[in-house]
Amino acid sequence: MAHPPVVSTPAAWNLLQWIVQPLGFLEHCADRYGDCFTATLGNVARFTYFSDPAAIEQIFSTASSQFESGRANMILRRTLGDNSLLLLDGEAHKRQRQLLMPPFHGERMRSYGALIPAITTAVTQTWQPGQPIWIRPAMQAISLQVILQAVFGLTSGQRYEDLKRSLYNMLEFTSNRFSFATNFFPILQRDFGAWSPGGQFNRLMAGINELLYAEIHDRRQSFDPDRSDILTLLLAARDEAGEPMSDGELRDELMTLLVAGHETTATALTWAMDWIHRLPEVRQKLLSELASWDPETDPSAITKLPYLNAVCCETLRIYPVGFIAQIRIAQAAVEIGGYPFKSYDMLIPCIYLVHHRPDLYPEPKQFRPERFLERQFSPYEYLPFGGSNRRCIGAAFALFEMKLVLATILRQHRLELLESRPMQPIRRGVTIAPNRQLKMRLAA
Ligand code: HEM
Repeated sequence: MAHPPVVSTPAAWNLLQWIVQPLGFLEHCADRYGDCFTATLGNVARFTYFSDPAAIEQIFSTASSQFESGRANMILRRTLGDNSLLLLDGEAHKRQRQLLMPPFHGERMRSYGALIPAITTAVTQTWQPGQPIWIRPAMQAISLQVILQAVFGLTSGQRYEDLKRSLYNMLEFTSNRFSFATNFFPILQRDFGAWSPGGQFNRLMAGINELLYAEIHDRRQSFDPDRSDILTLLLAARDEAGEPMSDGELRDELMTLLVAGHETTATALTWAMDWIHRLPEVRQKLLSELASWDPETDPSAITKLPYLNAVCCETLRIYPVGFIAQIRIAQAAVEIGGYPFKSYDMLIPCIYLVHHRPDLYPEPKQFRPERFLERQFSPYEYLPFGGSNRRCIGAAFALFEMKLVLATILRQHRLELLESRPMQPIRRGVTIAPNRQLKMRLAA
């Protein structure tokens, strides 16, 4: 049986492209080799990328025991720790997911319906006429406060302020392309003192760990089962032997939720703010639709607004923050897309390439929310949150938050762009994000 075409450029070149301009690399390979191709990246790995929805359906529908992803996420280990949901596989992964999913869905999720607009209003009321407004830091401040509230039930206090600042600094440090490249060159991760990248990283992490362990310690000491935050839930959890989670396990899971749960949403909100203010007709349609939404009586009704939903979907289609799903490592021989794979082969559902298929999304580079009103896409044609047993646990929560933040800002402020040139997507750690700051001001 034939194998997928192999990218012919040298492995070192492929790795450089993967680090510096991953979207360009993927598009180039898809143009040249089609829906499925294999590339070797440096001496690190050999991946097969998929962008045909039928093949992605096969990957997502194959029994979860046939693939592992945790082992492939080793580059996140330094930040998230061995016990992070993202690094687990098998039964341990399944158990932890069952514990972490409910707080981000249903009634528990809707209970943030008043809090998210309140945080948005507090952050944006500092915007002054005539002053430039830096959108990404504002979106990050909002999403960080929201996730801190969900995870710890914290909205104020010294530890909360310190945690906000330390997480911000750590993410700024780890998300540039150089920092991402250090994952492939372990020597650069070594601690040669406070000025070396490894040294800076260790000091930032030590500060965050101190804060997280102090909070875990205090909350164990005065455990309150009536609190509804996620830390309370994790503190109450017992494994099959009746043992509680250790401090290390708790720290890793909290860190995972804090990092995965705010950086991604902040990026998506930044893109959405740009599109909405770049395209006046989109903003106008949103404002008309939002006239029927009353945040005081029923904030959750925001989920029923079709055009706002379409704008959020299109934002996550055109530049999906997670541009690939997690790597799936085959655990046995498997056939996907008509090609044979053996144990340990590494397969990647390529979200960005699926979202840019002209047969699914005509004129894929155009921002056109209407496509989501005109037809429905299957979970293998539209997959900003991945799929199967590794699908993002925060998908519903992130969309809910995006809608509430955008609606609150649009109703309260009339903004305009300060720079007309379009923003471009570049790598930010394991995600893609705008290449420059988005600057706006309050319109006269
Ligand atoms: C717009 C915002 C977000 C986007 C675009 C996004 C995207 C993704 C993607 C593509 C994956 C990989 C799925 C796969 O491999 O099939 C993922 C996994 C994950 N996401 Fe999100 N995410 C977002 C927000 C959130 C939020 C708010 C949380 C916090 C609760 C979160 C927590 C996670 C976790 C813990 C995983 C790992 C799941 C597992 O391995 O079982 N994400 N996300």
